[in-house]
Amino acid sequence: MSFGPSSSSTLYKDMLEGKVAIVTGGASGIGESTARLFARHGAKVIIADIQDEMGQEVCREIVGDGGVASYVHCDVSSEADVQAAVETNVRSHGRLDVMFNNAGTAGEYRSHLGFDRSDFEKVFAVNVIGVFLGIKHAGRAMASTGRGSIINTASTVSVMAMRGLSPYGSSKHAVVGLTRDAAVELGHYGVRVNCVSPHLLASSMSRGSFGLDTRAVEEVTEKISVLRAAALKAQDIAEAVLYLASDESRYVNGHNLVVDGGYTTTNPSLGAHLFASSS
Ligand SMILES: NC(=O)c1ccc[n+]([C@@H]2O[C@H](COP(=O)([O-])OP(=O)(O)OC[C@H]3O[C@@H](n4cnc5c(N)ncnc54)[C@H](O)[C@@H]3O)[C@@H](O)[C@H]2O)c1
Repeated sequence: MSFGPSSSSTLYKDMLEGKVAIVTGGASGIGESTARLFARHGAKVIIADIQDEMGQEVCREIVGDGGVASYVHCDVSSEADVQAAVETNVRSHGRLDVMFNNAGTAGEYRSHLGFDRSDFEKVFAVNVIGVFLGIKHAGRAMASTGRGSIINTASTVSVMAMRGLSPYGSSKHAVVGLTRDAAVELGHYGVRVNCVSPHLLASSMSRGSFGLDTRAVEEVTEKISVLRAAALKAQDIAEAVLYLASDESRYVNGHNLVVDGGYTTTNPSLGAHLFASSS
């Protein structure tokens, strides 16, 4: 007797069937993986990015795989761009169910004392103002329908500090604050707002910030990981975002879903020091 799932199994379903989702920063990395996963789960996906050729290529591939996707040029730090991306797609699809405010920039990696005001302004324009604008315009569209899920990308540096990344780290703390503020207000309209906090994973952003290739980034995460597992991948974050986007998380609101294999629950330096001195 076989107990495996059959092709007609109802255990496996399209978690976003019939929904419309905008993914900012969907041309590469976490956004790209999430856009592909959303489309596989039945969503109509709109990729909003500033890397037009890459974004259009991802859409072509999604459509080639039988999904529905379109691309819009959208600099998330521009209110006109974000408003147009939301309103144009609400007009053409008649609804907006999911907004993934994921576009981000790491900025420079250096001492706190060496940063200029302009370094903070550049990072905050994308990571904080961009998320604020996405919440504002998607929230307006969703509030009138009484449903919707907004997910913002923060980072493990939203819950712990890391040397050399002051603008980035403080911007990601702000993303958690924005998420909670918006969750309290938009929850009243039936719209949920959550964020996801990835640990370090190899992407064009992280490779560029630290000057490392994919293997070197993965070696770092494997070395510091508290969970014995293969290196964290963009796909792992996409799966967490899918949950927050879907009705499976219908009572989850104002949550920061940290995806780090348990890294931020421990104190790695004190633990390593005490363990080394006691053994
Ligand atoms: N890679 C990591 O280790 C890591 C860890 C924690 C959090 N994050 C966050 O994940 C998110 C995605 O980053 P990633 O690692 O996939 O990097 P990535 O560089 O692969 O993707 C970032 C995407 O955002 C787009 N983007 C940048 N500025 C934009 C703007 N002004 N308007 C619209 N799009 C813009 C880029 O074109 C790119 O497609 C970011 O918010 C980042 O801060 C990444």
